Amino acid sequence: MNFKELASEYKTPLYVYDLDYMSKQYQELKEAFRGRKSILAYAVKANSNLSVVKHFANLGSGADCVSIGEVRRAFLAGIPAYKIIFSGVGKSDDEIREAIEKDILYINVESEAELFRVAIIAKELNKISRISIRVNPNIDPQTHPYISTGLHDNKFGVDINTAKRMYIFSKNSDSLDPVGVHFHIGSQLTNLEPIYESAVIVADLVRSLEAIDIELKFFDIGGGLGITYDDEATIKPYDYAQAILGTLKGLDLTVICEPGRFLTANAGYFLTKVLYEKQNGAKKFVVVDGAMNDLLRPALYGAYHRIEAITDSASEPRTVDIVGPVCESGDFFAKDYLLPELNHNDLLVVHSAGAYGFGMGSNYNTRGRSAEVAVEKGQARLIRKRENFEDLIALEKEFLEN
Ligand code: LLP
Repeated sequence: MNFKELASEYKTPLYVYDLDYMSKQYQELKEAFRGRKSILAYAVKANSNLSVVKHFANLGSGADCVSIGEVRRAFLAGIPAYKIIFSGVGKSDDEIREAIEKDILYINVESEAELFRVAIIAKELNKISRISIRVNPNIDPQTHPYISTGLHDNKFGVDINTAKRMYIFSKNSDSLDPVGVHFHIGSQLTNLEPIYESAVIVADLVRSLEAIDIELKFFDIGGGLGITYDDEATIKPYDYAQAILGTLKGLDLTVICEPGRFLTANAGYFLTKVLYEKQNGAKKFVVVDGAMNDLLRPALYGAYHRIEAITDSASEPRTVDIVGPVCESGDFFAKDYLLPELNHNDLLVVHSAGAYGFGMGSNYNTRGRSAEVAVEKGQARLIRKRENFEDLIALEKEFLEN
């Protein structure tokens, strides 16, 4: 990938995505589940650019969505209704209504109260809503607390007994069709054991439902597959699939997997230019043109992203903090990082930025969001324009006269 050329053509800050890498990741995971019916439902939140979602649609992917906005994106990008799932703890009545009207694969229900709303809304529409129930297996996923979701301390899903009650309610309802079960215990999982333990618990639930004549079709294992940001070992797709499939003996279920990060993170690069170097006391800073409003993960989670300098500098590496222009001390990409002395306009490439990068961006400090570029078979193309000042004020401007 010629980052220098891309930066000079499209300017910085800039997101660049390698679509061929995304295809490779998709095929590897899909292949791991061969021997069973399976759907990979791409977790749109990881990178919701329409061209990226379309790329997955072309590969045959489904979509896991957490807002009606994401459902609409999935449709626009060409993902068929029968491969779209709608999850999330707080769906509004309008969102539920639209999902039922659009006849998506199923709504992933996360509480008893929500189930009652779905039943009422489906009845009003004179429809039967397919649902799945998100089970919270109370297993510690051993990941960052902010991205852990499978413990009863977390707001997600329901415990096994509540789930059973909800399945029985659904079976007896004339506007609900319980077709699936779902669990997702967290993101950036690098240890297989908690996933396996959760699958065992949820597969047992499926068996106990069969015993009372509730036959599910879909076993939705969520996403969460970790990737290598630095040098950490992670789970191999083959081992992951084997572990899951091993828990499903004797069950005729289609496996649904909702990968986000695994498909996109290491396909993405965030390009930013050096503005200045400065020193406060003993501390050295490299100030760049990108900021926490472009890539929030370091500020929010203390996340590590590898940073590569593209420079002619021949100096020895020094320890620096790499910071952006936003008025927050939390606005950094790395702390105590080793980089050589840099010149104005040298390029820094922030790696593993394809998941939860652009999507978690904001306009804080009235900064326009960066442009996005896709590279496929060596060809680069713009897939989102850089936001300009007019874009940022468009929804406010008319009120100035008041
Ligand atoms: N399915 C459900 C129900 C989810 O909640 C998530 C992610 C996924 C699938 C996709 O998970 P993945 O395969 O990407 O791990 N902003 C955080 C990550 C938040 C993940 C939220 N849920 C980060 O930057 O690390």
